[in-house]
Amino acid sequence: MAATTIRILNIIHQARIVPVLLLMIVRACSIGAGNASDTLYNGGNITDGKTLVSAGGSFTLGFFSPTGVPTKTKRYLGIWFTADANVVCWVANRDNPLNTTTGVLVINDTGSLVLLNSGSGHTTWSSSSNTTSSAVAAQLLESGNLVVRDEQGSGNPIWIWQSFDHPSNTLLAGQRLGKNPQTGAEWSLTSWRAPNDPSPGDYRRVMDTKGLPDCVSWKHGVKKYRTGPWNGLWLSGVPEMASYSGLISVQVIVRPDEVAYVFDSTSTALFSRLVLNEAGVLQRLAWDPASKVWNIFSRAPRDVCDDYAMCGAFGLCDVNTASTLYCSCMQGFSPSSPSQWSMREASGGCRRDVPLDCGNNGTTTDGFMVLRGVKLPDTDNATVDMNATLEQCRTRCLADCSCVAYAPADIRGGGGGGHGSGCVMWTDDIVDVAL
Ligand SMILES: *[C@@H]1O[C@H](CO)[C@@H](O)[C@H](O)[C@H]1NC(C)=O
Ligand SMILES: *[C@@H]1O[C@H](CO)[C@@H](O)[C@H](O)[C@H]1NC(C)=O
Ligand SMILES: *[C@@H]1O[C@H](CO)[C@@H](O)[C@H](O)[C@H]1NC(C)=O
Ligand SMILES: *[C@@H]1O[C@H](CO)[C@@H](O)[C@H](O)[C@H]1NC(C)=O
Ligand SMILES: *[C@@H]1O[C@H](CO)[C@@H](O)[C@H](O)[C@H]1NC(C)=O
Ligand SMILES: *[C@@H]1O[C@H](CO)[C@@H](O)[C@H](O)[C@H]1NC(C)=O
Ligand SMILES: *[C@@H]1O[C@H](CO)[C@@H](O)[C@H](O)[C@H]1NC(C)=O
Repeated sequence: MAATTIRILNIIHQARIVPVLLLMIVRACSIGAGNASDTLYNGGNITDGKTLVSAGGSFTLGFFSPTGVPTKTKRYLGIWFTADANVVCWVANRDNPLNTTTGVLVINDTGSLVLLNSGSGHTTWSSSSNTTSSAVAAQLLESGNLVVRDEQGSGNPIWIWQSFDHPSNTLLAGQRLGKNPQTGAEWSLTSWRAPNDPSPGDYRRVMDTKGLPDCVSWKHGVKKYRTGPWNGLWLSGVPEMASYSGLISVQVIVRPDEVAYVFDSTSTALFSRLVLNEAGVLQRLAWDPASKVWNIFSRAPRDVCDDYAMCGAFGLCDVNTASTLYCSCMQGFSPSSPSQWSMREASGGCRRDVPLDCGNNGTTTDGFMVLRGVKLPDTDNATVDMNATLEQCRTRCLADCSCVAYAPADIRGGGGGGHGSGCVMWTDDIVDVAL
């Protein structure tokens, strides 16, 4: 019997719509801002107990000890949300706490911020500087960014350092998660070790620039969760973004010197933050000033299908099929190891039932299966051409016997029936696909 072998997939990534809105009540306390300044000038200092407060009062920089940690044992310099001092957005000396309250922040004569133990004179932390000027000032901006400016010369001051370039576990509005492919500079999040320990923990969140740009959470060397690439409208794996698009706008910047994810609050009244917590969970929270609580807008991973490569190569994860433990094989594929699958161990994935018929002088019986509404597979090893049309993409894939699947890179508009534009082509295993 003539079988039509399945080349595999024309993947249309639309993904699941799962609006998430949970409420979390946190302890809130107001701190009197006093008349603290937002700027530290060269020659000045900030000692333990003193603070900088941003112009509008939203953020405070100063010394703190995490909740439950005795003041004298661990002192950190950080930036916190003024209305809720428990929410620390940035920490300078995360892996090198002071064990005294004699810490002092100064600007030295070559423009570095230096955190000293004034008792011993030891430097605990310092920022980098590329200036030889001493006309330098540090300002805590209303965005939560601590910037160091070189104020020599008559023109605009030059920023020589900013805390936004050195994220801790939190991304604020306007702050980038990404990298500069030209210099290798990277802006990534690293979780705290524990809720009361800001030292670097097990999880990191980075912008992966191989294939299509994709934000990825790692636990040590192991990939744990992919957001899924930007599809022109939303992050392929986070369709619920649509539910708060009126409040928060998200942008993926792709330029030769910058590939980055950045968000902004569309309302100035909304204070939102993205946090990679100690357990590797990424939470988007927003402050409700009326009730003084943090509302959780989203959390990721959300469910088992967000576990990276849960169902292995050519496997398909569906959170609604708990009875089969979520995994199935794509059409035309069967479990590589049926005995393992029967033991609910699906990570070995699936293999093709009938070999491809490619290279048969154009008389191939291979065709494509369309897979709709999924998180786009990992594109690390995929070939991307943003200029190709979807029709060109199909032709290229069909002509290349090593091509196993193709998809549009951008689902907006495009020719060929409005199914998008750009071309992503896979030549190895397809992994991390979820309905
Ligand atoms: C900080 O500045 C104040 C005022 O200029 C000065 O009296 C004090 O000695 C300085 N403290 C340190 C530790 O540098
Ligand atoms: C504080 O740390 C220093 C080294 O940084 C150490 O010599 C000193 O004994 C510590 N003091 C206390 C009270 O633990
Ligand atoms: C300022 O601090 C930086 C970083 O610790 C250091 O490299 C530089 O030599 C210091 N400059 C001066 C004038 O001490
Ligand atoms: C120092 O670094 C900043 C930020 O990277 C840059 O904007 C500035 O041009 C640099 N200045 C010099 C003198 O290299
Ligand atoms: C492919 O077609 C050409 C001409 O149509 C023929 O000479 C050749 O033998 C064919 N090759 C295969 C592998 O069928
Ligand atoms: C990409 O290729 C490398 C090297 O062959 C391999 O280790 C890795 O698993 C591949 N990644 C994906 C997502 O297939
Ligand atoms: C894609 O198209 C743009 C604008 O049409 C052009 O500048 C660019 O060179 C093209 N890139 C490739 C890889 O063909």
